[in-house]
Amino acid sequence: MSSPYSLLTTKDLSKEKILHLFSRASLFKSEFKKSNQFLQKNFESLNKTLAFVFFENSTRTRMSFQMAAYRLGLKVISMDSITNSSITKGESQLDTILNIDAMKPDLFVIRCGDSFNLKEIAPQLSVPTINAGSGATAHPTQALLDCFTLYETRRPMSQFRVLIVGDVRYSRVASSNFNLLQQMGAEVGVCGPESLMPDQEKFPHVKVFKKLDEGLDWANVCMILRIQLERHDAGSLKLPSLSSYHEIFGVTPERLKAFDSDGIIMHPGPINHGVELSTETLKDPRCVVLNQVENGVYTRAALMEDIILSSNNGGNLG
Ligand code: NCD
Repeated sequence: MSSPYSLLTTKDLSKEKILHLFSRASLFKSEFKKSNQFLQKNFESLNKTLAFVFFENSTRTRMSFQMAAYRLGLKVISMDSITNSSITKGESQLDTILNIDAMKPDLFVIRCGDSFNLKEIAPQLSVPTINAGSGATAHPTQALLDCFTLYETRRPMSQFRVLIVGDVRYSRVASSNFNLLQQMGAEVGVCGPESLMPDQEKFPHVKVFKKLDEGLDWANVCMILRIQLERHDAGSLKLPSLSSYHEIFGVTPERLKAFDSDGIIMHPGPINHGVELSTETLKDPRCVVLNQVENGVYTRAALMEDIILSSNNGGNLG
């Protein structure tokens, strides 16, 4: 049995581990397609309870973790927003986490802002932590499900040229995807307003496209991102208005005419229609947005299963 581990960034995962998680996710998916349930590794008899702590809002990530946990036979206690917690009474996020840790859950799933130093705090907790999105820094499970969505096409990962379009600088989805996609052998390019492009030195092997049409011509995967307005310092960015942003960088059926006919269109959600894409783009047969959401359940199940089994008290299901 391997030792328990936390997943804080995609750098915590070896290629071997990623492939193992993908093979478990595929199995969960095929079992679910056949029987509407996961047949493998039912944790029910082990009575494990996970603590989900979401200091930032979430729909897909939180509910797919929850769905995955229930399908594995795990129990969940959940703090799903700050507004109904004692943080409104002045309690700090660190105290909140330490108090929940004192209840002895078996695993943490935490979403937080950049002010909560997950890297420093996770090692203080008595059980492993999965990062469900930390500020503008990392969102490793989103990258895992995105990469799995490409992997399950059975095309070699080295054949993928992934163009990430939009607010790359402030997107944790983009930074986690850079690492994971490149580790798996895919090429990555970016396109968007100059003020939303990442620091070149941080991501040296990423191609930068000034024009969306040139990027779409190069790519066979187009990963569209929402503008992270909530993470911008108000007024500090030279951003076009949202409607002129749509004109310059919005992904539309017109623009997609020149895109690879076997290409793949992705978006992590939530979508701002008429800004980063037009509603029609979601009807394009190359669009896999809802497959991504479905795959989120299988990949998160694979990850929770692996971490729980690797914990000393994981029982003898391995
Ligand atoms: C993303 C996030 O929260 O980082 N959404 C998600 O988890 N599926 C992307 C976003 O908020 O734009």
